Amino acid sequence: MRDGGVPSRRDTPATEVARDVSRRLRRWFARHGRDLPWRRTRDPYRILVSELMLQQTQVSRVLDFYERFLARFPSLHDLAAARPAAVREQWEGLGYYARARNLHALSRQVTRDGNGALPDDPQALRNLPGIGPYTAGAVASFAFERPAALVDTNVARVIARIFAPRLRPKRARDLSRIWRIAESILPRRGRTAWTHNQALMELGALVCTARVRRCEVCPVASACATRQRELRTR
Ligand code: ADE
Repeated sequence: MRDGGVPSRRDTPATEVARDVSRRLRRWFARHGRDLPWRRTRDPYRILVSELMLQQTQVSRVLDFYERFLARFPSLHDLAAARPAAVREQWEGLGYYARARNLHALSRQVTRDGNGALPDDPQALRNLPGIGPYTAGAVASFAFERPAALVDTNVARVIARIFAPRLRPKRARDLSRIWRIAESILPRRGRTAWTHNQALMELGALVCTARVRRCEVCPVASACATRQRELRTR
């Protein structure tokens, strides 16, 4: 939304186009999406741990650490009660320890100030240590099935390529436009939005990566602005 809540017509795709793209993405995800442990749970704590670990770290690497960390700290309360050195030790090898420090601080804040439960609202989540707009959206959508948009580097690239090739995700102004597009294409039903968001991430990980575009196997190639532009100029 623009200032005053007026949607930007210039970027947002027509409703029918957005629905069609989302439907194709979700159908593709049902067949090709990876079976990952954080996709089998709706436990907000487990989702949060997965999202923090997945920042700057590959899925294959996170898989090794995720179950071990959760076996040691099965709940937000267990984590809050732990000594900082114990948390750091479990994070050892993943790097970027600020993530672990923030997670620990968050667990203590929520168990002390809140009712011990993570909030389901993206705005409330953003007030917690280490939680930016992406992670807030991810926890709201993946744990609580709230219809919340989420844009990380991969999703930004995918959305720009499909809908707005002239936007550069690295430019702050363009990134906020990409967020608006992400919001405009989000299905209204939370459960449908869950699949839609996972599918966007999965397309960015498996098909439409930073290095290669596998348009031959892409479920939305026929609707993709980048692909169609490329075919025209061949
Ligand atoms: N990276 C961040 N969130 C992810 C998810 N839910 N699945 C796969 N990769 C991710």
